[in-house]
Amino acid sequence: MSGTCVIGLQWGDEAKGKIVDLLTLKHDVVVRYQGGANAGHTVVLGEETYKLSLLPSGVLTPGVTCVIAGGVVLNPAKVIEELNELKKRDVEDFDNLKISDRAHVIFPWHFAEDGAMNQSTSDGENIGTTGRGIGPCYRDKVGRSYAIRLGDMYRDSFRNQVEHIVKVKNRVLAAMLAGQPWEPLVARDIHAQYAVFAERLRPYMADTTEYLLDAVESGKRLLFEGAQGALLDVDHGTYPFVTSSNSSGVGIANGSGVPGRHLGKVIGVVKAYTTRVGGGPFPTEQDNEAGQRLRDQGNEYGTVTGRPRRCGWLDTVAVRYSARLSGVHGICVSLLDVLSGIEELKICTAYEWAGRISRQFPSHVDDLRQVQPIYETMPGWQEDITGAQSIEELPQATRNYLDRVSELVGVPVELVSVGPDRRQTIQVDAL
Ligand code: GDP
Ligand code: IMO
Ligand code: MG
Repeated sequence: MSGTCVIGLQWGDEAKGKIVDLLTLKHDVVVRYQGGANAGHTVVLGEETYKLSLLPSGVLTPGVTCVIAGGVVLNPAKVIEELNELKKRDVEDFDNLKISDRAHVIFPWHFAEDGAMNQSTSDGENIGTTGRGIGPCYRDKVGRSYAIRLGDMYRDSFRNQVEHIVKVKNRVLAAMLAGQPWEPLVARDIHAQYAVFAERLRPYMADTTEYLLDAVESGKRLLFEGAQGALLDVDHGTYPFVTSSNSSGVGIANGSGVPGRHLGKVIGVVKAYTTRVGGGPFPTEQDNEAGQRLRDQGNEYGTVTGRPRRCGWLDTVAVRYSARLSGVHGICVSLLDVLSGIEELKICTAYEWAGRISRQFPSHVDDLRQVQPIYETMPGWQEDITGAQSIEELPQATRNYLDRVSELVGVPVELVSVGPDRRQTIQVDAL
């Protein structure tokens, strides 16, 4: 099996983009298979920083094929913007790209619905979505009647589909936005705009399922790039404060069309502490000076929305759960350098829940809100570790922290990231 999968094990922004870029050097094809432009993956190469939302993070390595598979919800304007940006920056081979004709397309009504509801839960609490139309597009995909896939945009029926859907969506939006000013959608304009997008994307459109099956069968090495994090998984995450796709390891096969037996090794990316953007419970959150310090040292502001990320200590109850759920073979501990200078580090080892000490991650958010984290305190380190190239170069306290994380999560640490650059990575075991 020659596949590698990179999955975030927390609530997103674990540095998946950096790790995918690094691992791309050993692969032939890099695949995004779920989520959409709610993702913001950062790759730093020397002086250059690239922020990618839809293009796989392998796009900066010449000679690699990048695939946006059928499980992704596609904002065509955003892909085009990213392609234009890479062209402007003279990135070689950036258009070695295949986009699934099965990918569902995000239309203006999806943005409008995402904004109109602000996607609150049935209790009225705000999910705090990225506003990128992700939930409404996936809802229409599953509902089928008002959905358009990329492949539909090249057929004669496309214009009629848009007209039909716009009529319905204008009624839906009128009800959702009752009493508020809003502009009805105009089918003709939307069709004209998306026909231009379709032409621009025509060279990339492909049956990526067939392509990927051929690729694995012919021995190509595939790298799967998860978006979001396992705790945002629609089925297994902190529902309803989740995204609308299977962002844990369980989503790889269904989003890409590549069966599990070809998937190979799963690497879980774990930030050395915890962050979360948007609503929902977060047991180890530090809404205090300690959290602010993590935010400042880690520059924890959203890649997509710029929102300050909520910050807290590492929660190994949550990460152990998401590592088991995602079938992780090894973890990459990222942003470890951010902890330098903090005197005492806390790690959550268990929850006190309904009078019991437990390492079980509750399935209902109301229960997750009730848990009290039990912390172990470890001495921190003062040294700057951003130049370390091997485990031996790390201070003993840093190594102790890594060992303890590995022990609590139940999987070996295989990679350690000590800075945003590709070179600021320590390989612990041969991958
Ligand atoms: P992703 O969504 O999982 O790809 O992560 P993001 O790109 O949204 O957020 C990770 C942020 O941390 C980015 O700004 C990265 O450039 C940066 N980063 C990645 N690895 C490290 C690291 O080891 N140390 C530090 N200090 N920053 C890192
Ligand atoms: P990457 O791939 C962090 C969060 C949003 C919100 C919830 C639902 O960069 O790690 P959505 O727009 O998906 O309906 O929002 O999920 N969210 C992310 N948080 N990183 C992401 O992606 C995220 N994508 C979505 O903040 O709480
Ligand atoms: Mg991100």
